Amino acid sequence: MDEAVIDALRHEAKTKLDPKQKGALGQFMTPFRIAEFMANLFVTRTNAVLLDAGAGIGSLTLAASKVLKLSRAEAWELDPVMVSYLQRNLAGLDVVTELHKKDFILDSVDRIQFDVGTRFTHAIMNPPYKKIGANSIHRSACRQLGLETGNLYTAFLALAILQMKLGGEIVIIIPRSFCNGPYYKPFRSLMLTKCSIDLIHIFESRNQAFKDDEVLQENVILKLTRGGAQGSVTLSLSQDAEFDVVHRRVVPFELIVETGDPEIFIRIPSMAEPGPVTGEFFKYGLKELGVEVCTGPVVDFRLKPWWSQDPQPGTVPCIYPHHFTAAGFEWPKAHKKPNSLYRSNEVDKWLMREGVYVVVRRFSAKEERRRVVAYIITPQDINSQLVGFENHWNVFHIQKNGLPMDLARGLAVFLNSTVLDNYFRIFSGHTQVNATDLRNMKFPSLPMLRELGSKYRHGLTQEEIDGLLDQCANKQN
Ligand SMILES: C[S@@+](CC[C@H](N)C(=O)[O-])C[C@H]1O[C@@H](n2cnc3c(N)ncnc32)[C@H](O)[C@@H]1O
Repeated sequence: MDEAVIDALRHEAKTKLDPKQKGALGQFMTPFRIAEFMANLFVTRTNAVLLDAGAGIGSLTLAASKVLKLSRAEAWELDPVMVSYLQRNLAGLDVVTELHKKDFILDSVDRIQFDVGTRFTHAIMNPPYKKIGANSIHRSACRQLGLETGNLYTAFLALAILQMKLGGEIVIIIPRSFCNGPYYKPFRSLMLTKCSIDLIHIFESRNQAFKDDEVLQENVILKLTRGGAQGSVTLSLSQDAEFDVVHRRVVPFELIVETGDPEIFIRIPSMAEPGPVTGEFFKYGLKELGVEVCTGPVVDFRLKPWWSQDPQPGTVPCIYPHHFTAAGFEWPKAHKKPNSLYRSNEVDKWLMREGVYVVVRRFSAKEERRRVVAYIITPQDINSQLVGFENHWNVFHIQKNGLPMDLARGLAVFLNSTVLDNYFRIFSGHTQVNATDLRNMKFPSLPMLRELGSKYRHGLTQEEIDGLLDQCANKQN
């Protein structure tokens, strides 16, 4: 079956899917060009026993069958519409195939637990993506194997890993969110202990992989080897899902997972070698600078009895991201959220003392050009001895107090620079900025931050901010 036929089937199947199930089952099917690219990443190509879990209409298995000498292929799929196509597509293959019309997670947990079923030499997958709740059957099933994971796609990958033979190769397309963030740490740990990462492919524009379905997710293609010796990692990049030009760069594994990183973040360095000067900006951990960062301590719904729409005697300011706009800081502001909180024992424990703070939004809009957006807040802005920072912020502080002004200004310039934004994208694929991400980053030295701070003025444009970093870098030469 050729590419056009498979893609036509994919479109036909899509029109028949139950729209309500589409989200629940994470039904975004792989365009054949991606399937083909993925299949071509397999290195060993003979005697293949293939796994395709959440197989949809079977595009990935079909693509793999063109590259591999298959001796057996097994596919898991739940949706009856998909199953009808999959059945026909598997029947057309000239090998032994087995179609499991079952839940891959529940079935795999049994197979692994009781050590039954096939062990695979190859896996090719585009699993469903969907959060799994703490009390869901999937979560409890995974826990039976000691697997703690909050998304279907990481559960699928973990269970596939556990059903591979040693030396087995896995090629998978998944969102990039597992690379960082505390929730995915147990999964990263399992993946890195059981497999080597051989290749990571990224798409230059993030909405390219599943553009037919308007998926705005940033996806990566991973190639792993079960029990593989970890050597250097190939980074690969294409503009889009046409793969007209594919750039490759081989990097040492330490650039992907930093030695001794307690969070075991998976970083995806840019395709260009970092220049020596840029490196000067990323040398010191926050601890070395004597600075800390935390999530904004005020969780507003817990303090609802103490909300005050406007500042009143006995209240303190409660600062939200909406208080900052392109026009600058505006507080108090008409909004459904409060501007202030009445002081009480319950409120006081979440407040910080008057001072100069740098605050970074935790959630940026998907369309926003920058991931990290930082602001300075000073005592003059709010005129209060105590202040509440709402939970949608990350707050830079020194032992719960403010920062010296020049350091705060330097940090704000640095955090809002394009150099930093590019660096941040190395280890973060999603639009959320967690305090852990900021804690794991490297920063310029204190003198360099102070120098940047000395050039700060209100209302700097992006070009002016980047210019300040260029000046600073030139001085280093
Ligand atoms: C992202 S789609 C990908 C389909 C196919 N692999 C492809 O690349 O076109 C994920 C598929 O997994 C199926 N699925 C969702 N949850 C499942 C589960 N628990 N067990 C088996 N299949 C599942 C969905 O019906 C859907 O067809």
